[in-house]
Amino acid sequence: MGIKNITVLGSGVMGHGIAQVSATAGYNVVLRDIEQGFLDKAMEKIRWSLDKLVTKEKISKEEGDAIFGRIKPVVDLNEAVKDAELVIEVVPEIMDLKKKVYAELDKAAAPEVIFASNTSTLPITEIANTTSRPDKFIGIHFFNPPQLMKLVEVIPGEKTSPDITELTKEYVKSVNKQAVVCRKDVPGFIINRLFIPMVHEACYLKDRTSATLEEIDSAVKFKLGFPMGIFELADFTGMDVIHKATVEMHLRDKKVINPHPLVEKMFDEKKLGQKSGEGYYKYSDDKYERVTLSEDLASKCNPIQLVANILNNAAWLVTNGASDIEEIEKAAQLGLGLKKPLFETAKEIGISNIVNELKQLAEKHGQFYEPDPLLVSMQ
Ligand SMILES: NC(=O)c1ccc[n+]([C@@H]2O[C@H](COP(=O)([O-])OP(=O)(O)OC[C@H]3O[C@@H](n4cnc5c(N)ncnc54)[C@H](O)[C@@H]3O)[C@@H](O)[C@H]2O)c1
Repeated sequence: MGIKNITVLGSGVMGHGIAQVSATAGYNVVLRDIEQGFLDKAMEKIRWSLDKLVTKEKISKEEGDAIFGRIKPVVDLNEAVKDAELVIEVVPEIMDLKKKVYAELDKAAAPEVIFASNTSTLPITEIANTTSRPDKFIGIHFFNPPQLMKLVEVIPGEKTSPDITELTKEYVKSVNKQAVVCRKDVPGFIINRLFIPMVHEACYLKDRTSATLEEIDSAVKFKLGFPMGIFELADFTGMDVIHKATVEMHLRDKKVINPHPLVEKMFDEKKLGQKSGEGYYKYSDDKYERVTLSEDLASKCNPIQLVANILNNAAWLVTNGASDIEEIEKAAQLGLGLKKPLFETAKEIGISNIVNELKQLAEKHGQFYEPDPLLVSMQ
């Protein structure tokens, strides 16, 4: 079955971007939100983004107009889904709200329509099972901003039919993105499972050593090949997003994350990062300011504890059949912007050294740090 008509439910930060990339690939898109005002704002943003592409001569004015013309803003749900073959749901990350939206959607959409959720952290299978079509339900996790980020995680639930997974991969390819399939519906999927726990671990590293924020961030950037430091990345992502992901992931799996109290404290104090003017660092205006990091500062911090944390989670994904090393490296490169493969960094440091670090951490700080059997076997 070829997909031509897509409905995007939710026109916020992610929804309007997903509508734009879909229309750019030639799909007829209906963008649905609960108020006309939200849709007007979303359409303005899409127009602005397309105009920018025209100014940069990436597309012609005619192409920009044609893409814009393929997106139809609609408030009425029944009208929004009447021609849809695929519905991409991009409503706020609140389980009860998602379930309510799917209850309405399930009634409004014909039985053959595919449902894809852009959830970052909620269990796909659990949401799927509230609908009449768990076999036609899948996770499709775009990254922010969808117009620029190349990675899309595709997450089949327990009952998702293999055809639907294939079709979703084809759709991702058709919108000029790269799909990485997270083969099991595990908390955090791939990228958040690597990234979110590392933010907490970096807080522990700061507590346990005399390293400064800048030294830790410099080590992450210059020794681990991240595009920026981990605290910078957390400030950029927003502590509201990180806190929410932490809560959801920890609720479902205590082994994935060792929550550091500072993350919740910063969230409570509204120190959300760049968007609020203060997170780990302070930001003047709302301009994007880079913290000064250097190789010299990097030499003052040994990041083995961070490498051990991210590697242990990567290994967990492999051991538990959710992914393999090649796919994890691809996801980390496209989703986190890593310039160096994780397992290459690990080999430079020495897998045995990493396993020893994890064993020592486990002795001091508990079972959370127990090395994954895959790492132990790779020594
Ligand atoms: N923001 C990010 O960086 C990011 C990245 C990846 C995934 N996500 C995920 O994408 C989803 C949406 O996040 P967001 O940041 O775009 O949220 P957002 O709050 O910016 O947008 C959500 C939109 O959904 C609308 N909405 C609410 N109920 C609706 C309904 N019944 N039908 C249609 N629209 C409805 C809201 O009015 C709002 O415009 C969440 O699941 C989130 O976890 C977000």
